[in-house]
Amino acid sequence: MQRILVTGALGQIGAELVPALRERYGPDNVVASDIRTPSHTADSNGPFVHVDCTSQEQLHRAVTRFDVDVVYHLAAVLSAVAEQKPDVAWDVNMGGVYRVLQVAREHRCAVFVPSSIGAFGPTTPPDRTPQDTIQRPSSMYGVTKVAGELLCDYYHHRFGVDTRGVRYPGLVSYVAPPGGGTTDYVVEIFYEALRHQRYTCFLAGDTRLDMMYMPDAIEAAIGVMEVDATQLEHRNAFNVTAMNFTPDELAAEIRTHIPDFTISYEVDPVRQGIADSWPRSIDDTAARKEWGWTPRFDLAAMTRDMLEHLRPKLQITG
Ligand SMILES: NC(=O)c1ccc[n+]([C@@H]2O[C@H](COP(=O)([O-])OP(=O)(O)OC[C@H]3O[C@@H](n4cnc5c(N)ncnc54)[C@H](O)[C@@H]3O)[C@@H](O)[C@H]2O)c1
Repeated sequence: MQRILVTGALGQIGAELVPALRERYGPDNVVASDIRTPSHTADSNGPFVHVDCTSQEQLHRAVTRFDVDVVYHLAAVLSAVAEQKPDVAWDVNMGGVYRVLQVAREHRCAVFVPSSIGAFGPTTPPDRTPQDTIQRPSSMYGVTKVAGELLCDYYHHRFGVDTRGVRYPGLVSYVAPPGGGTTDYVVEIFYEALRHQRYTCFLAGDTRLDMMYMPDAIEAAIGVMEVDATQLEHRNAFNVTAMNFTPDELAAEIRTHIPDFTISYEVDPVRQGIADSWPRSIDDTAARKEWGWTPRFDLAAMTRDMLEHLRPKLQITG
């Protein structure tokens, strides 16, 4: 049985990945860790340790104490926050992945590191962006994501560390709030649609980006880690996607459930600039071919499920 450490476990992905891993591998075999302290609502059905991912000593102690053989490294600073605090983003994103890889090398752990569509940039082909293509991102977040991908490749070919990963698009979830990314509007819009039947979006109405519902994101992480590595041609940074839409199109889909819903726009130039530098859609053929990646949720299914789960959470009836 695998013993797993999850860094950044209290974030948007960790809030759902940790319970999914505990269900699969047993609660005691999945150690959640974060620099923050869990609130009473966090999953407490298993061990939690405080780990700052930029401290090799703290990582080393957690891996030794729990005899860890797989690390899901989720701790990071996301795109919009990284643009406000580029120095912190560099320290956490680069320092974190480097130290996780060092500890994985020493303890022979496998490592999952998520990359992002943010690893692409304005000179990347923007439509059906290929798996292997130009990567010259213009944001600090993107710079750290490309460098992270390369470092994972390096630790694999140089030291034989079993590194794997995917490039996530914007992720949507009703469980934990997003952590300061460029696609956070996709979560906010559902809360505001249910509470006030209106939403002011910080991206322009025609900003087209790929997205994924969190249950599929969790399947992607576990799927790429569980596949027999001999069938992988790529390892790190598989393009994965599930759906593609603009804020206007998402608003129209929400209106099929909440007819009075209206959307208006107050564009934030920083986040719009980041979004405009990212692909409008990515090609995930390699993930589909090499390890059978298949998403379950499209826009209609995700919208239905989000509203179904948020209504009771926000105590909204009807
Ligand atoms: N959410 C998305 O839409 C998305 C899309 C593409 C890629 N990703 C990637 O997935 C990973 C996880 O994203 P998320 O959405 O869960 O992020 P998040 O911001 O919701 O969570 C990150 C977690 O890391 C923790 N953290 C921050 N600094 C830390 C440190 N020094 N040591 C330990 N923990 C620290 C935070 O407390 C937080 O709980 C990141 O690498 C991110 O770049 C996310």
